[in-house]
Amino acid sequence: MSTDTLDSIVDSARRAFAGARTPADLENAKAQFIGKSGRITELMKGLGALGVDEKKTRGAAINAAKQAIEAALAGRRQALADAELDAQLKAEALDVTLPGRLRDPGGLHPVSLTMERIERIFASMGFDVADGPEIETDWHSFTSLNNPPNHPARSMQDTFYVDIKGEDGIAYNLRPHTSPMQVRYAHAHIKKHAKTVQAGGTMPEIRVIAPGRTYRVDSDATHSPMFHQCEGLWLGENVSFKDLKVVFTDFCRTFFESDDLALRFRPSFFPFTEPSAEIDIQFQSGPLAGSWLEVCGSGQVHPAVVRNMGLDPEKYIGFAFGMGPDRLTMLRYGVNDLRLFFDGDVRFLRQFR
Ligand code: DAH
Repeated sequence: MSTDTLDSIVDSARRAFAGARTPADLENAKAQFIGKSGRITELMKGLGALGVDEKKTRGAAINAAKQAIEAALAGRRQALADAELDAQLKAEALDVTLPGRLRDPGGLHPVSLTMERIERIFASMGFDVADGPEIETDWHSFTSLNNPPNHPARSMQDTFYVDIKGEDGIAYNLRPHTSPMQVRYAHAHIKKHAKTVQAGGTMPEIRVIAPGRTYRVDSDATHSPMFHQCEGLWLGENVSFKDLKVVFTDFCRTFFESDDLALRFRPSFFPFTEPSAEIDIQFQSGPLAGSWLEVCGSGQVHPAVVRNMGLDPEKYIGFAFGMGPDRLTMLRYGVNDLRLFFDGDVRFLRQFR
């Protein structure tokens, strides 16, 4: 066999390799030339029949052809691998010049902002912040607060009841106000300081606010079946209405960030306070200037309630108040429909972030 033939085998191997589009194609092409029964391999097998000298020159020529084919194979393997990597890089390309996608950070609900604000202000005046159950006993919601048995607040038109009876045989209610926290907190406070008192020390004053959810059978632009209240209680041996006035005036001015604010205590009635007052505020400037706005019920804690706390009304005196954080939020931000707070529309809520 001539060198021409060997050259032409090498040539056709190069063409076959160049024509291979995938690594699998390339391996098939390789088999035709240098595989077990490839053309070069067959030529090698034929060497055994030749004489020593011929074997030497012929062998060297075939080997040279084989090496040329192997080099072509390696070149094509590399080219296919490079092309594959290129394609992969292109497919997974990142355009680092694209603008980033902002992650919406979210924020607190406006009423939560108000609650936090209320807590911060009262905490700075030495008030504890307490939390209590939303499903209450009849005694805590009404009886302990000096409501007579036939008080209209107890009716099913006003208060939601749960289908489970308490130990007293009366159904549990969804608390219609945060006032039950007055007696609950007082009981906990007395227990907490029992050792001190037993040892002849004095019990510290009760100074607490209790913000939370409350429920009533009521629904319109200014009433929601679920709403918020914040109870306040300050009870001690020498706490008076004057202290309520100072504390509440201070609170309102801080809350609304305005010293240009007037307060009015308007006589009212609550079973659990005597005397009782509604607290109205009046802005002297701004969009709400002029009109009196009711923001809080209040009064001197009724002796019957002090007794239900387990304290002697001859010794302990103080005041309580209950305000509506929803309403405070509406006033602070100029929102005119309470229902907006509970619809969960992010277009509305986003504005308070
Ligand atoms: N609990 C009353 C209500 O829901 C609000 C209230 C009024 C609370 C006077 C008080 C208070 O603590 O002293 O309307």
